[in-house]
Amino acid sequence: MKVLIVGNGGREHAIAWKLAQSPNRPEIYVTPGNAGSSQVAKNVPLQGNTPSAMMQFAAEQEIDLVVIGPEAPLVSGLADQFRAKGIAVIGPSAAAAELEGSKVFAKQFFARHHIPTAAFHSAHSIEEALDALTRFSLPVVIKADGLAAGKGVIIAQSHQEARAAILDLMARQTLGAAGSRVVLEEFLCGEEVSFIVLTDGERILAFPPAQDHKAILDEDRGPNTGGMGAYCDARILTPQQHQTILREIIHPTLGGLRAEGRPFQGFLFAGLMITDNGPKILEFNVRLGDPETQALLHSMRGDFLALLKSCAAGNLDANAVYWDAEPSVCVVLAAANYPGNPRTGDAISGIEQAEECGAVVFHAGTQSRDGKVVTSGGRVLGVTASAPSLPEAIERVYEAASHIQFDGMQKRSDIGAKGRKRWEAESTDNPAATPRRRTATS
Ligand code: AMP
Ligand code: GLY
Repeated sequence: MKVLIVGNGGREHAIAWKLAQSPNRPEIYVTPGNAGSSQVAKNVPLQGNTPSAMMQFAAEQEIDLVVIGPEAPLVSGLADQFRAKGIAVIGPSAAAAELEGSKVFAKQFFARHHIPTAAFHSAHSIEEALDALTRFSLPVVIKADGLAAGKGVIIAQSHQEARAAILDLMARQTLGAAGSRVVLEEFLCGEEVSFIVLTDGERILAFPPAQDHKAILDEDRGPNTGGMGAYCDARILTPQQHQTILREIIHPTLGGLRAEGRPFQGFLFAGLMITDNGPKILEFNVRLGDPETQALLHSMRGDFLALLKSCAAGNLDANAVYWDAEPSVCVVLAAANYPGNPRTGDAISGIEQAEECGAVVFHAGTQSRDGKVVTSGGRVLGVTASAPSLPEAIERVYEAASHIQFDGMQKRSDIGAKGRKRWEAESTDNPAATPRRRTATS
């Protein structure tokens, strides 16, 4: 079996790493990949990395399955192109990917299908946005409609700040066409959860819940990034919350997309806020999360390839994989200057020592140069480890990460801290409590 993975981040290295463990021993290609994916798969630099170059490569190599990692190619229809050529693919059509590609579409979709979300107004002009603003209390959230690589959401503490954000997006067009329409949204309080399912359009497999850490600095301070670390732990949600999310958010979304002629196949990632009034959807991504994937796949057991193959064939076999009760943690090591324009070319040391501590080091922004691994992007590495308890997993991952060095390296020291508090509170409430076992069924 030959698999082609599209992308070059930590998520794609983790997908390649997990697929490589399949007893079916697939031949794995990653385009363009990074220094880490080249250890478990073959990186294929394709001219311009264009859809037509990928299509040609897939045809020549007789690729059996394509896994598309990032959102941009999905939103522009790469999955449709592979399917049109009869090549099996994991990832939604452009029509279904609009759920991530347009926040205006997504919010109107939630309203049509009564899916719990923050109150909102979508505005098509500056006048409409400024007029709607007067009806929102503070803080208010302003969102660019289109894809903005994590830069499209502004939480404004004053109406003045909100006005400035609207003018930046719509008049100065700081994010280009992505800001030609905006969504104004009620600010929700609560804890955020990343809830991911794999679906063939009908059947689903819910992954265990995970939590990302978006801000660059400890205690969620500083500007937002793509994600500075994540952990996966069944205790993030109660079984009741898990059921509510499936019943009120996931199933109505998949059913609504089907009813509107946009059936969804692939990874559906719900970014949720758990509020006092229950879980609400902040946004959907139409792909796996990064760095959630590194934590989720680290503690996955079973045959990931069999799972993806069955999904692409429209016959999802949710029993192909399962998760043991061990929580896992991924700590991101980022380059100097990130999330601004990151410095590149810094030599990295200590990866082997980190792995000797029992961690897996997933690569993101790395490149091989003269036999050495150097930085080549904002998020450089994702050090990932599991343990019987979350506090132990945190200790293990930080011990491993302490061996890795490069100039200007940035890392948060509090990944998993909210989860650790939950463990401490639960063991005080009930000293005999054992970890809840999350089954793989939906
Ligand atoms: P999104 O791209 O919609 O997930 O937004 C990025 C981040 O902005 C989320 O992870 C939240 O931390 C924050 N955010 C987005 N929408 C809201 C909201 N309505 N209330 C509070 N925080 C929000
Ligand atoms: N970790 C959040 C994302 O992948 O969008």
